[in-house]
Amino acid sequence: MVPNVKGFFDSATNTISYVVSDPKTNKCAVIDTVLDFDMAAGRISYGSADEIIDYVRSNDLEVEWVIETHVHADHLSAAPYIQEQLGGKLGIGKNITVVQDVFGKVFNAGTAFERDGSQFDALFEDGDTFTIGTMQASVIHTPGHTPACLTYLIEDAAFTGDTIFMPDFGSARCDFPGGSAEELYNSVQRIFELPDDTAIFVCHDYKAPGRDEFAWQTTVGEQKAKNIHMGGGVASEDFVKMREERDSKLGMPKLILPSIQVNMRGGHLPPAEDDGNHYLKLPVNRF
Ligand SMILES: [Fe+2]
Repeated sequence: MVPNVKGFFDSATNTISYVVSDPKTNKCAVIDTVLDFDMAAGRISYGSADEIIDYVRSNDLEVEWVIETHVHADHLSAAPYIQEQLGGKLGIGKNITVVQDVFGKVFNAGTAFERDGSQFDALFEDGDTFTIGTMQASVIHTPGHTPACLTYLIEDAAFTGDTIFMPDFGSARCDFPGGSAEELYNSVQRIFELPDDTAIFVCHDYKAPGRDEFAWQTTVGEQKAKNIHMGGGVASEDFVKMREERDSKLGMPKLILPSIQVNMRGGHLPPAEDDGNHYLKLPVNRF
């Protein structure tokens, strides 16, 4: 069974958020939402999240889960805003604690910042299962891009986050703290073990040479045959070499500093200071 999947493309960050709903019960999960952020002005807005909220309401869906594939480094999560408006439990990978530990130090977040994942309602481990209405969902730990990355398999649809991109674009960078090209390769092999007709929904798309439209849906079979970084039986050593060479030339994502500070807190801003305002830090010379 393939669930109802609606993708929402955010052109500012090239992110695709998903609403995955059960045709039988109208229960749904919302995956990888985006909070709009104007870096120059330090201003947050809710246009992208409101589109999702409108879709959920106008289709009479009921949100059971608000889930993240990982701590994103290129956009702020709108999960708390979505939860406030629509309900649902917030879930992420258990290794969020590793990410919180590393970036708690980078941002000198102090002891008030809990590094135990307690900002989330559920911390998923490899093999965990949960339901969305009558749909079965399971969790595959797919580290490599980050140590906490998960793939959610919901019936016959896999939400791979940044573990693999469209076949003509390839794969995500593995050079963030705790990332590993070798681990990413192994994670993708696990996705390749799923049946060939399993749908794959990716978290980002940037088009690709020869393709003028954004795209976000593919299949396991197509990835195995055609992924330009991982397909056709590429060996681990060759992938790792290619990935590390590419990563060494990449600049930091535009929104990495605000994104991680917010996303490591489950999408919440750091606590307000004594003047009642929230501030985001820019650690100097740390990246
Ligand atoms: Fe990412």
